[in-house]
Amino acid sequence: DPELVAAGAKVFKKCKACHQVGDGAKNKTGPVLNGIIGQAAGAVEGFKYSKALKAKAEGGLVWTDETLAEFLRKPKAFMKGTKMSFAGLKKEKDLAAITAYLTSLGN
Ligand code: HEM
Repeated sequence: DPELVAAGAKVFKKCKACHQVGDGAKNKTGPVLNGIIGQAAGAVEGFKYSKALKAKAEGGLVWTDETLAEFLRKPKAFMKGTKMSFAGLKKEKDLAAITAYLTSLGN
């Protein structure tokens, strides 16, 4: 849905302080998010994750529409000890939009 993807690009402005996407994206405060949907958690090369995220990764967490929405609703509740300092997205519409946008990026 191109409209949802466009809405997601706007929501992504809240993530840009810490995350880059697209050609030439680099790890910053947060890891590069190209291809994140469908990818195992904690798998971006060269990024130093928290113990909390590494524990989730070892438990087999994969980022899907559902797990990403759960994380983004309240990062510190979903993953106690994460170093992602982000309050979360409250609106279900924003959660659907951001997953559509990130899915559209591919790798
Ligand atoms: C981790 C998405 C906002 C900093 C992650 C991960 C995702 C994500 C999917 C896990 C990556 C992986 O497992 O490889 C998002 C989205 C955001 C957002 C979609 C906006 C809605 C932010 C903001 C910051 C931030 C604003 C900085 C203030 C981080 C950090 C990590 C992380 C430091 C690593 C967490 C850890 O190791 O515990 N983010 N993020 N993120 N993000 Fe964000």
